[in-house]
Amino acid sequence: MSKKRYEDPKWVAGQVIGLDYNNCMSEFVGEQGLSAAELEDLAPGMAAVHQELAEARRRGDLAFMELPYQTAALANVRQVAKPLLEWCWEFVVLGIGGSALGARALHQALCHPQYNRFNMARRHHRPALWVLDNIDPDNFHGMLDGLELRRTAFNVISKSGSTAETLAQFVFTYQLLKGRLGEAKARERFVVTTDPEKGNLRRLAVQEGFPSLMVPPGVGGRFSVLSPVGLLPAAMVGIDLEELLAGARFMDERLKSPAYQDNPALCLAALYYLFARKSRNILVIMPYASALAGMADWFCQLWAESLGKRQDLQGREVWAGTTPVRAVGATDQHSQLQLYMEGPQDKLITFLEVEKFHNRLEIPDLFPEMEGLHYLGGHTLNGLLEAEQKATAFNLAKAGRPNLTLRLPEINAFTIGQLIYLLEVVTVAAAPLLGVNPLDQPGVEGGKQTTYGLMGRPGFEAQRREIEEGPPPLEKYRIF
Ligand code: PA5
Repeated sequence: MSKKRYEDPKWVAGQVIGLDYNNCMSEFVGEQGLSAAELEDLAPGMAAVHQELAEARRRGDLAFMELPYQTAALANVRQVAKPLLEWCWEFVVLGIGGSALGARALHQALCHPQYNRFNMARRHHRPALWVLDNIDPDNFHGMLDGLELRRTAFNVISKSGSTAETLAQFVFTYQLLKGRLGEAKARERFVVTTDPEKGNLRRLAVQEGFPSLMVPPGVGGRFSVLSPVGLLPAAMVGIDLEELLAGARFMDERLKSPAYQDNPALCLAALYYLFARKSRNILVIMPYASALAGMADWFCQLWAESLGKRQDLQGREVWAGTTPVRAVGATDQHSQLQLYMEGPQDKLITFLEVEKFHNRLEIPDLFPEMEGLHYLGGHTLNGLLEAEQKATAFNLAKAGRPNLTLRLPEINAFTIGQLIYLLEVVTVAAAPLLGVNPLDQPGVEGGKQTTYGLMGRPGFEAQRREIEEGPPPLEKYRIF
C-alpha cells in the first residue's frame, strides 16, 4: 500500500500550524498589550490547567479528545457511505448547532468553492452537500424544491434525538418522500446519526430500519465534528478522513507540553483569558481565506456555547464569557475594520492566515500608463491578500489594538484537522480559567424547554404556563 503523505515526516514538517502573538505584547501595542511578566505570572496556572485537562481526559470527561483515534467509527462511516455513493446525487444534513456547523465548515474548507454546482462527473461521482440548519419555512421549502428527491439522501443528526427543529425537519421530509416515492423507497433515503442508545431518533432508527451511526457518549454537539457527525458528510464529498484525523492526532501530540510557550492551546487560552480580564470582551476571528469562513462560524458557536455561562462550577453567578465575532479578510476590511481600528477598545483579533493557496493568480499589467493600476501589475492576488493581512495586523498594532495570527501553511485535511483539535482544546483550556463547565449549555436547554411547552409537548406544561401567565405586553411599548 502506498504511503500516505501524512506519514512522511518531511511533508508533515511543512504543515505545522504556527501561532504569532507578537502583536499582543506591550512591545508592539503599547499599554494596551500584555507585559511578558503578566504572561509569566500565569505560567503555573496554565500548567495546572494542563494537568486538570489531562486528568479529566483520563476520567473520560473529555471524550472528544479521543475522536481522532476512533478507527472503528471511521470504518462504520465508510460502511454507511459506500452504498449511498452508488445512487446519491444530493446529500442533505438535517441538524442544527453543533450537529450542522462542523459539516458545513469542512465542506467549505476542503471542497472546491463551486463544488455543489459541478455535475457528478466533475465531482468524481459524489453528491452535492446541503446543510439545512434552519426551519425557516420558505428556505426549507425552497431548498427541498430544488432537489432531485429520488437521488437525495437525508442525514438526520441529533445527539439528544429530541431537538424540535431537527425532528420537525425529519418528519416533514419523511412524509414528503413517502408521498413521492412510496414508503420503502423513502425509508432507504434516511441515515441517522445520534446517541447509541438514548433518544427518539435512536428509537426511530430501530423502528424504521434506518442505517445509523453513533455520536459517542460524552461527546456534545459542538465537539462532535470529528465523530460521524462531521465524518459522514465529509466522506460523502470525498474529504480525506484519515488525513483529517491524522492532523488532529498530530495536534494532540503537540499539546502534550505543559509549558504555554510550547503549547499553542495553552498559549491561546492564556491570551484570550488575560485580555478578557482587561475587558476585551469581543473575540474576533478573521480568516484571510474565504474557505475558512465556515471554520470561523464553527468556532464562534464552540466558544460561545461552551464558555458563556451564568454560574461557575461552585454555583456562583459569574456571567462568564467573551463574545465571538466572525469576520473575513479582505472583505471585512471594507466593513468591520473601521470599528476594530477606531471603535471601543474591547476586542482581541485572531487572524487565520494561509501561507500557500492552491492557486496562484497573477495580476496582469494591463494599463501601464495608469499609475493607480500599474503598481498592481506583476503581483499576484496571493501577494495582495498577504499584504492586506500584514498591513491590517500592523496598523491595528500601531493603533494599540492587540491581535494575533494563526498561520496555516496551506488548507488541506491535515491542517484543518490540526485547527479543529487546537480550537477545541483552547476552548476547554479556557474553561478552568473562567471557572465554568464548557460541556453544558443550560441557557440553550432553557429555550428548548420553553419551545416544547409552547408547542404542547407533554411534561412541559409548566414552561407554557410561565409564558402564558406572564405580564401581557403593554400597548405603549408597541409601534404599529
Ligand atoms: O453544541 C451543542 O451542544 C448544541 O449546539 C447542539 O449541537 C444543538 O443544540 C443540537 O442538539 P442535538 O444535536 O442534540 O440535536
